[in-house]
Amino acid sequence: MSEKVVAVVGATGAVGREMIRTLERRNFPVKAIRFFASQRSAGKYLQYKGDDVIVEELTEKAFDNQGIEIALFSAGGDTSKQFAPIVAKAGAIVIDNSSAWRMNPEVPLVVPEVNPEDVKYNKGIIANPNCSTIQMVVALKPLHDFGKIRRIVVSTYQSVSGAGQKGIDELWEQTKSMINGQPVKIQKFPKQIAFNVIPQIDVFLENYFTKEEMKMVNETRKIMHDEHIQTTATCVRVPVLRGHSESVYIETEKKITREKAIELLSKAPGIVVSDDPQKGVYPVPTETADLFDTYVGRIREDLNVETGLNFWCVSDNLLKGAASNAVQIAEIL
Ligand code: A2P
Repeated sequence: MSEKVVAVVGATGAVGREMIRTLERRNFPVKAIRFFASQRSAGKYLQYKGDDVIVEELTEKAFDNQGIEIALFSAGGDTSKQFAPIVAKAGAIVIDNSSAWRMNPEVPLVVPEVNPEDVKYNKGIIANPNCSTIQMVVALKPLHDFGKIRRIVVSTYQSVSGAGQKGIDELWEQTKSMINGQPVKIQKFPKQIAFNVIPQIDVFLENYFTKEEMKMVNETRKIMHDEHIQTTATCVRVPVLRGHSESVYIETEKKITREKAIELLSKAPGIVVSDDPQKGVYPVPTETADLFDTYVGRIREDLNVETGLNFWCVSDNLLKGAASNAVQIAEIL
């Protein structure tokens, strides 16, 4: 791979910091690195491979004639809507972690283990899918290739870091308040998250699903290139710092036994099968945080539907759900 001039936009955020660490950890061929955030952070320093790098303010002119080739964006949907086209016009390929461009037909939506070839049709912007969708489709791909999935019923257990640094801070603050018998302040989440679970992520839509749930429905179809996959999702925020978990039930055209599923998943890229219930082996977020793979366990055939299969999957939402998926896309480029 030839060395690239890389920018991280939203470098000070929860995902942005992981993008920087992932570039380091995967030894991405970086010729030069630039960090961008809002005016609030301009002038601060962040480290890259032991060197201090200044954080610059993202402005409409910031990428002009700078030779930046790849821009990893995680600065929210509004920032992406405004700046991704400008940055792409200035010559960089934007890999965008927000939901702003994901369903645009001209923008590839890529999970490297599933549809790496889609990067080819990019016109300067490539979208990184929703965190819950990424880990689910990584696990579904080998099962779909073998048995053709028709129906998916998924419930998520999503960590607070999915809501960025403010989400992480709110869980800590509320937990401290509870322990000290003080009133709990609710700012980022719709209800108290400490010692609680909240069946709402993002806003409600007219069909009574949330936007997060509809992302799982629509993005799964686009990534898997199959308009017929019927997904129904319930997305739940849980008081976990890092790592999303999912209970997934699928129905396939061709039956997949537990043994076959283990064989298929064990061979698939990006997946670790962690499934030995007698020995208490199954994945949990505290044991998979800071790791790049998607972990699958609790694999079992349905008791009633002949072609039904259940499993549990866990992945680090800041890594595979965001930063490392984006860096893997950059590696394909
Ligand atoms: P800043 O730290 O200057 O606010 P998180 O998802 O953890 O909340 O992080 C969001 C990231 O997006 C931060 O790096 C934040 O920078 C950045 N950001 C937010 N708004 C803008 C903006 N208008 N322009 C550039 N970066 C932004």
